[in-house]
Amino acid sequence: MNILLIGSGGREHAILKAIENDDRIEKIYAIPGNGAMVERCECIPEIKATDIDKIVEFAKNHPIDFAIVAPDDPLALGLVDQLEKIGIKSFGPNKDAAQIEASKAFAKDLMKKYNIPTAKFKTFDNKDEAIAYIEEEGAPIVIKADGLALGKGVTVATTIEEAKEAVIEAMENKKFGEAGNTVVIEEYLSGPEVSVLSFTDGKTIVPMISSMDHKRAFDNDEGPNTGGMGTIAPNVFYTDEIAQECMDQIFLPTINAMTQEGKPFKGCLYFGLMLTADGPKVIEYNCRFGDPETQVVLPLLESNLLDIMLSVANEELENQSVKFSDDKACCVVLASEGYPVNYDSGFEITLPETKENEYIYIAGAKEEDGKLITNGGRVLGAVAVAPTLKKAIDKAYELSDKIDFENAYKRSDIGKKALEKESKLNG
Ligand code: AMP
Ligand code: GLY
Repeated sequence: MNILLIGSGGREHAILKAIENDDRIEKIYAIPGNGAMVERCECIPEIKATDIDKIVEFAKNHPIDFAIVAPDDPLALGLVDQLEKIGIKSFGPNKDAAQIEASKAFAKDLMKKYNIPTAKFKTFDNKDEAIAYIEEEGAPIVIKADGLALGKGVTVATTIEEAKEAVIEAMENKKFGEAGNTVVIEEYLSGPEVSVLSFTDGKTIVPMISSMDHKRAFDNDEGPNTGGMGTIAPNVFYTDEIAQECMDQIFLPTINAMTQEGKPFKGCLYFGLMLTADGPKVIEYNCRFGDPETQVVLPLLESNLLDIMLSVANEELENQSVKFSDDKACCVVLASEGYPVNYDSGFEITLPETKENEYIYIAGAKEEDGKLITNGGRVLGAVAVAPTLKKAIDKAYELSDKIDFENAYKRSDIGKKALEKESKLNG
């Protein structure tokens, strides 16, 4: 079987590592791929993940049996619809179903209509009305650009001034382009955050092991929001009882709602949850694997990932085993100093040999003359799996300490809050 994998980040490298030794796979093409994926894939760096026409043209001219579309943009642009039109089965939602991430207003309306717990909200396409609403509601309050904004479209405003500023930036100054023409303004929620990725074929939903992202750039959750600076799995705040509540009140109602709306969701549906005093609430849906959640979830998956993806595409997930190990995992992201604002790239990366239960997933790096060179904000993730969370964290940091490139920056407290919670739980 030949596979086409779309994307170029650490998430895609982790997906690749999970399937690359499957005997059934001969060739893997990656569009665009990255400097580490070239070891196993034929990478096509000249085609962007968002260039739907070129990808479809490529797929027509190559013997591809199955496509895995990992990033949000090509999903939102309808790549899966186009590939299926030319007879290529794909893992990922079609354009209509990808709306669940691509339009926050759509997602919020869906939750309201189907009574899925989420923050109270209002949607605006008029700046003055948005500002009047902020004055009425007061701060703290949360402003979200409606469309895809590289994970940077959300402002958690602690003052009314900051909230108004965010509205002006999005709606008047077009900071997020078209994505900010409509904004969702919502109630501020507090509590621990949990990421739950799930496999679903539109009929059956199977949650993966839970995880915790660390979105802020600096230690103690300070500094700007990033794509994610590190993860642990499972998430210690997510008890079996909460998991059951989420299944009954959030996961199943969401896939059923999508089907009822004529947009059945097939692929990986990501639930960004906040465990509030009033119970779990949805902060966001993503129509894809999370990054860097995937880097801690897939190393714990014991079942065959390709089988699961095929069963999702064939709508046979009900009969598919999806098992996770009892171990724990930690991913420490090494970024270029200055990310997510300004940073330099172009530095050679020196990697150590990895031992069993250690993984290095490359994100922002290209290959030049056989060398790996930094080429992005988040450069790579150092991942370790161990029987305890403490060991997984220690080992991930030890591994990250052996990786060298000029300009490397990492947080030093990935998993710290989870460890504190764990020690409280254990008395
Ligand atoms: P998102 O891009 O939707 O994941 O939002 C980025 C981050 O903003 C989330 O991970 C939360 O930490 C925070 N956030 C989003 N919505 C809310 C909310 N209603 N209340 C408090 N924090 C929020
Ligand atoms: N780590 C958050 C995301 O993938 O959106």
